[in-house]
Amino acid sequence: MAPSSNKPHAARRGQGIFLLLSSVSLLLAFPAAARAQQPADYFRQNCMSCHTIGGGRITGPDLKEVTQRKDRAWLTQFLQNPKVVMDSGDAYALQLQQEARGVVMPTVPGMTPDVARALLDFIDAESKLPKSQFAGLTITDRPFTSVDVAAGRNLFLGKRPLANGGPSCVSCHTLGTIGALGGGRLGPDLTRVYERLGGRKSVGTWLMAPATPTMQAVFRKTPLQSDEILPLLAAIEDAASKGRQADSSAQVNFFLLGFGGMMLGLAVLGTLWRGRFQAVRRPLVRGEERGAR
Ligand code: HEC
Ligand code: HEC
Repeated sequence: MAPSSNKPHAARRGQGIFLLLSSVSLLLAFPAAARAQQPADYFRQNCMSCHTIGGGRITGPDLKEVTQRKDRAWLTQFLQNPKVVMDSGDAYALQLQQEARGVVMPTVPGMTPDVARALLDFIDAESKLPKSQFAGLTITDRPFTSVDVAAGRNLFLGKRPLANGGPSCVSCHTLGTIGALGGGRLGPDLTRVYERLGGRKSVGTWLMAPATPTMQAVFRKTPLQSDEILPLLAAIEDAASKGRQADSSAQVNFFLLGFGGMMLGLAVLGTLWRGRFQAVRRPLVRGEERGAR
């Protein structure tokens, strides 16, 4: 009885080993870059937030025909460790950094010489197309309406759920007065994000594929859609303009609050200390009187 029941078991084990061996040999057969990810996916996840291919500068320069501006050896080196190349004082690097208003490209996780070469090939191929899939987000220049702003606030607050199921922004961010009481603190306040990232197109493209650790982890599988990004940008612009108006009165309020607070504090301390001084002095005085006697 025992031998026959063992048979299927052995067969399953044989199958498992075969599967294991074949997947190992598959892994070995592919070059590192392809194994990690296809260049297009890699670019979408790690580069698109700052670069277009043929769509103009956003946070970083337009990469169309970059290999004709600069040699591949330099670019491959640069991709490995942008900061080291920037700090080397190389004239081309200095010019790039000036044009980027001082922003230095981060070292992208998983970058190897093979990945860099595959990416440069990919950028070359995309540069030859009439329109690259990475030409960037085309966002309208028209002024946003109050309808856009209201829709954006609802998305931000989670009153209208995000289509792909991502968590609402307010769980981690505040924006102007939205979420000022009880908004999340994990992410930065977004009121001034235009100034940091460089305007409507930059922030919009950034949101299509965030490359920072938390945002990427949260939105890689549940990306925002362009018809959600537009109203979100409207809400951000609205908060920024209200923020500027509020700034001057906020400064006065801050001063008054600070001044009032200080006076109140002094008054409280004064009362406390009056008692304390008396309590210290009286026994001393009494002691001296006693000593004099
Ligand atoms: C956070 C924004 C950011 C991300 C993400 C980013 N870059 Fe950059 N990149 C820059 C900036 C800014 C520069 C300009 C040089 C500098 O200031 O560091 C630059 C420069 C470059 C250059 C040289 C451009 C030229 O005109 O010579 C290449 C090539 C490049 N990046 C490719 C990539 C690739 C490929 C990725 C993804 C693996 C990527 N970058 C991700 C911001 C970014
Ligand atoms: C789970 C928490 C979380 C959620 C939800 C979240 N964010 Fe973020 N966000 C962060 C963190 C943390 C950062 C800082 C960078 C990083 O670590 O990713 C950030 C950074 C950002 C930035 C860049 C800010 C800067 O100054 O560079 C923008 C823009 C942004 N988030 C927009 C949004 C929007 C819009 C939503 C909603 C659709 C959202 N975030 C939802 C946590 C979150």
